[in-house]
Amino acid sequence: MKNRSDTGKISRNAPCPCGSGQKYKHCCLNKSSSTRQSDLQYAKRHRIRIKTPEQIEGIRRAGQLVIETLDLVAPHIRPGVTTDEINAMVHDFTVRHGAVPAPLNYRGFPKSVCISINEVICHGIPGDRPFKDGDIVNVDVTSILNSYYADASKTFFVGTPGADAQKIVNVSQQCLAEGMAVVRPGNTVGDIGHAIQSYAEGQGCSVVREFVGHGVGVDFHEAPQIPHYGKPGSGVRLVPGMVFTIEPMINLGKKELVVLEDGWTAITKDGSLSAQFEQTLMVTESGVESLTPYPL
Ligand code: MF3
Ligand code: CO
Ligand code: CO
Repeated sequence: MKNRSDTGKISRNAPCPCGSGQKYKHCCLNKSSSTRQSDLQYAKRHRIRIKTPEQIEGIRRAGQLVIETLDLVAPHIRPGVTTDEINAMVHDFTVRHGAVPAPLNYRGFPKSVCISINEVICHGIPGDRPFKDGDIVNVDVTSILNSYYADASKTFFVGTPGADAQKIVNVSQQCLAEGMAVVRPGNTVGDIGHAIQSYAEGQGCSVVREFVGHGVGVDFHEAPQIPHYGKPGSGVRLVPGMVFTIEPMINLGKKELVVLEDGWTAITKDGSLSAQFEQTLMVTESGVESLTPYPL
């Protein structure tokens, strides 16, 4: 298809010259290049890396591997299987695909994946504990492929879940959906937090404050931070090309946590169940695209 008319005008259906991969009419047609320049400067002031089309493609490929890894382990989350066995599967699959498991040796983390069961909020260290019927299990995979990072997690049921388990897993999954639904240029980080907090608290659950979503892609944890609570319109404004995670940790009881002696394992202070879903997301011209997509 020809992209420019004889007058030199870019046709509305042509790929946008900014390299976004979108049609011109859905991208820069109604936006002056000075708008784009001020978005880039705004991000820079906040130490946020706006990703290039090449970086996005690299993160998307890493994200595809992360999703395949979650799909690989899913059928093995059953009674009697240990978290060390899942760790070995994640490690071997990642390395066989030419990637590196980002958690391994990250700030001293000793394993290749985080596995967090029941009252464990996050950063559970794999070990010899076997899954038992009724457990809920979060598996959080971050892989580095060609030096690009992608980060995603899901919470699985072991065998038959009880009513409490079903409730907290459903609420935390919907929290990720609620957060994603407000990701678009012009909205803010506070809009994401507010959408998640109001849904979770409306369901009688609570939002963990100590751990937040984060920019990701070139490093494991980049700016900005994405709290899963907040006020509408507050915080950093979202700009096309930002890549970050949303990863709400939602407790059935109170929001307070305790970190165990191992320096990693975070558990609910009241012993209540906690669940989490995480995806790596990109702000597009019109909304959001997941680089670690799975149905919610
Ligand atoms: N994947 C976690 C996150 O979502 C971070 C784990 S850090 C580790 O940000 F060291 F525990 F692996
Ligand atoms: Co993360
Ligand atoms: Co993660």
